Amino acid sequence: MIKSLGFFLIALFFNHTNAITFSVKNNCPFTVWAAAVPGGGQRLENNQTWEVNVPDQTLGRIWARTGCSFNETGRGRCQTGDCNELLKCENYGESPFTAVRYRLNIFNDLDFLDVSLINGFNVPVKAAPDTGHCGRSIQCSVDINEFCPKQLRVPGGCSDPCNVFRKDKYCCGSGKCGPTKYSRFFQSKCPRAYTYPKDDQPELSSCSAGTNYTVVFCP
Ligand SMILES: *[C@@H]1O[C@H](CO)[C@@H](O)[C@H](O)[C@H]1NC(C)=O
Ligand SMILES: *[C@@H]1O[C@H](CO)[C@@H](O)[C@H](O)[C@H]1NC(C)=O
Ligand SMILES: *[C@@H]1O[C@H](CO)[C@@H](O)[C@H](O)[C@H]1NC(C)=O
Repeated sequence: MIKSLGFFLIALFFNHTNAITFSVKNNCPFTVWAAAVPGGGQRLENNQTWEVNVPDQTLGRIWARTGCSFNETGRGRCQTGDCNELLKCENYGESPFTAVRYRLNIFNDLDFLDVSLINGFNVPVKAAPDTGHCGRSIQCSVDINEFCPKQLRVPGGCSDPCNVFRKDKYCCGSGKCGPTKYSRFFQSKCPRAYTYPKDDQPELSSCSAGTNYTVVFCP
């Protein structure tokens, strides 16, 4: 039963021939290890681009990792954004990391993208459609690390208060929480980013399904 359900889901997944391409580019003057789930991960020197293909009707994330060192089997650690000590990520990373989150063609023939600071911030990021215009720009291009409150400061980034304090008012474990002085700090730097777990900003950039995107670190 479980097996046939798994097969059904895989069949559903691959039935959609439309592959969407995310071109992930590193504009930072330093090396980053790009991460994508689904997609894996890749080291990117300044000005290098990694093309990540994902099937249509996918929900996922793209982020940068910094300060990594991996051995030849792709195992190691990153100072920020680490995903279970793997070069090729299979799971979302550890705070802090600036995330581009997307939902492709899951609702109403539209893609939805946003930038999330719910897991803190490591590098500035921007996402844009390769063709067409679809709503507001999706970016957090300020280097928040320079302004990070000292309670949230960690090597290589600005962590999120849930990760630092482990309190429900920041983590929203019980499902109800509002903005805090920390989420307001993040919001002040990147007004269009999601800044706490129950943030319900009305505006998400929405593009028509089938659009390809470029994600740039340090835009
Ligand atoms: C960056 O890459 C683009 C192509 O992706 C190339 O045209 C350009 O010359 C490169 N710039 C530098 C500074 O290497
Ligand atoms: C790579 O690192 C992992 C984890 O630290 C270790 O278990 C493995 O032996 C290493 N492999 C090589 C070839 O060094
Ligand atoms: C998206 O990129 C893929 C491959 O990179 C290409 O085949 C496809 O035509 C592109 N889609 C659009 C809408 O430009």
